[in-house]
Amino acid sequence: MPASPLSILIAPDPRLKTRARPVRPEDGAEIAVLVPRMFEAMYAAPGIGLAAPQIGVGLRLCVIDLQPDDTPAPVVLINPSIVAASAEMATREEGCLSLPNQYADVTRPARVTVRFGDLAGKTREITTDGLLAACLQHEIDHLDGILFIDHLSPLKRNMILRRLAKEQRQKAAG
Ligand code: NI
Repeated sequence: MPASPLSILIAPDPRLKTRARPVRPEDGAEIAVLVPRMFEAMYAAPGIGLAAPQIGVGLRLCVIDLQPDDTPAPVVLINPSIVAASAEMATREEGCLSLPNQYADVTRPARVTVRFGDLAGKTREITTDGLLAACLQHEIDHLDGILFIDHLSPLKRNMILRRLAKEQRQKAAG
């Protein structure tokens, strides 16, 4: 029987605010099944990043694809961590599949080095800036129960959450 598509949790679901646990070797079989389905859900949304807590799985796992020049460039990050961040900051507009249609400027370190495991169990490192740096930090935040709106003032955060709740109610009402 084909698996039904993964559904993406919408804020303020409490599972989005929960810290995920590290992936262990015995999680390998689950991860192998989960990763292709996460990419499928992310591309369908469409989005450029998806973290396991967004589909209700409390594991430190995320997938990213910025699709430069419309070419697939999938990256799987297992137990990612930021090992270096620049003092220089950068501000970009962010959105999130768990906060559909909501966007705000978020300020983060401009350049980061992220260490992570890949599907083959190899440790890798990316040092980057620009959109990929913001995306990596955004996805790693998800693993710690942090949403992009948590980087905003309480006023802005509540405004976005209220607007989202209203839009979700309207959507449910058809
Ligand atoms: Ni997100």
